[in-house]
Amino acid sequence: MLMKLIMKHSKPYIGWICAVLVLQLLTTIATLYLPSLNARIIDKGVTLGDVDFIWSTGRVMLAVAFVQVLTAVAAVYFGAKTAMAIGRDLRREVFSSVTKFSAQDVNKFGAATLITRGTNDVQQVQMLVLMGLNFMVSAPIMCIGGVIMALREDPGLSWLVWVSVPVLFVVVGILVFFLMPLFREMQERIDAINGVLREQITGLRVVRAFVREKHETERFEDANQKLTRVGVRVGNLFVLMFPLIGMILHIATAAVLWFGGHRVDAGLVQVGALTAFLQYLLQILMAVMMGTFMAMMIPRAMVCADRIGEVLDTTPSMVDPDTDSGTTPVDGTVAFNNVSFGYEGAESHVLSNISFTARPGQTTAIIGSTGAGKTTLLNLIPRLYEASEGAITIGGVPVSELSRAQLSSLVAAVPQRPYLFSGTVASNLRFGATDATEDELWDALTIAQAKDFVSEREGGLESTVSQGGTNVSGGQRQRLCIARAIAARPSIYLFDDSFSALDVATDARLRAALQEPTKDATVIIVAQRVSTITEADQIIVLDDGQVSAVGTHSELLESSATYQEIVQSQLSAQEAA
Ligand code: CTP
Ligand code: MG
Repeated sequence: MLMKLIMKHSKPYIGWICAVLVLQLLTTIATLYLPSLNARIIDKGVTLGDVDFIWSTGRVMLAVAFVQVLTAVAAVYFGAKTAMAIGRDLRREVFSSVTKFSAQDVNKFGAATLITRGTNDVQQVQMLVLMGLNFMVSAPIMCIGGVIMALREDPGLSWLVWVSVPVLFVVVGILVFFLMPLFREMQERIDAINGVLREQITGLRVVRAFVREKHETERFEDANQKLTRVGVRVGNLFVLMFPLIGMILHIATAAVLWFGGHRVDAGLVQVGALTAFLQYLLQILMAVMMGTFMAMMIPRAMVCADRIGEVLDTTPSMVDPDTDSGTTPVDGTVAFNNVSFGYEGAESHVLSNISFTARPGQTTAIIGSTGAGKTTLLNLIPRLYEASEGAITIGGVPVSELSRAQLSSLVAAVPQRPYLFSGTVASNLRFGATDATEDELWDALTIAQAKDFVSEREGGLESTVSQGGTNVSGGQRQRLCIARAIAARPSIYLFDDSFSALDVATDARLRAALQEPTKDATVIIVAQRVSTITEADQIIVLDDGQVSAVGTHSELLESSATYQEIVQSQLSAQEAA
């Protein structure tokens, strides 16, 4: 998966990548060339007192060093540019995949992990690409080239290369072996901390209300401690790693000087060549170290790439049909024909054999106990979920044949848990009506009984709304959501329990004001209060996912025992109050 992702996303940047690789190659060759030039200056120039040779070779050395600096800077620049671009593309792709997800798909993953996958996981892959571009070419060439150059300087000391490289390799390998599971664990611990933190911030008020601070603090403390422990263990290994590597490098240096010194004494090798040999040995060891570090990043990036791949490979459980299918609903009639629905993974159906028709110009009310499936039923209409059996049609066309754009222009829903986006009141109201004028927005607010509080807010229509709409009260949020639906002027209005947060008087005023804009539209209202729906053209009593009765208020009072129970319970509650 990792290779597939990187391959696919590096294609557009193949030019930059080639540039990086060539530049790295040049840098490496320059780096390999320098010690040997240095050796010549010492052995020929300094030893023989040949000033001309020192000057001429010195000039070459300067030029090579200059090239090395330039190419190294350019390579890092292009490398970073490429890696960041690939990261950006990956993030974009994850994001656009997620936006195509149905509610079902999002539930399957969970919001938190989708966020992590789109940010942290992408970052890991991006980091590997960056490291890869920097060391993929330079490390092996440095290694092999270093060996060749070292042997050219003094073949007699070559055994030092054959001893020190494997020793370093084994030592770093052992450390990596212990580090790797720790890194994986660390990732999980970070996930856990994110989870706890997220839950606590969202549920802060509940935590306060129930004085659960201590318990929650302990829970966080626990997750925090676990992360700390892993971090400390990683730290311990790193503490060990640098002295160990340093020790190997220093022992290798000492060995070169010791054995090389004897060889210089014996006239087998010159001082300059010995210096060069030492530099090559250190370069080789560095390359081995870098290579191993990179190898260490691969498993972590692989885990992340798999997680990203899962998101990208998810085919949305609902596919948007061709917009050109040419089918346009004749009107806003919503018809359920023997519809059943079950949530994924659930044993039984939440809705079974639902059949009814909601006509334009009429109000259809749905009433039923908590958990009866009212919200689920409404969500099926704009196709947030796909019916498991049966068909839902709008104006004669099955919803599965309508494009998302068509559906959203036909249907405006006020969700049970009203949600606003960060921005302004106006930007929220224009969600379904991009080009609505200010007057139209004020009209919508007037109908939704939201005009007063919006005009009292500083900035009016342009007053800010925070993410989720948390800086307005629950009832205000509900009314803004209602206004958002009205501003969209749809053919079908869905109100999911939208009037329950309003006091009875406001509820009545709002419904009276709604008469005008909704007179030709299909209105479906889910309600808790019987008083909200007494005037509805038809009332559907939903009981445990099944239609238990259909009729008007007075008809149902006669015929439906369930409806009588509901009315009775609310009446007695009122009497008691
Ligand atoms: N349910 C589920 N998964 C979801 C949403 C709901 O399994 N993502 C199940 C719940 O267990 C519930 C049933 O579906 O029993 C019906 O849920 P819902 O349609 O939300 O019930 P409502 O009638 O809207 O209940 P309320 O009056 O509380 O809004
Ligand atoms: Mg509900």
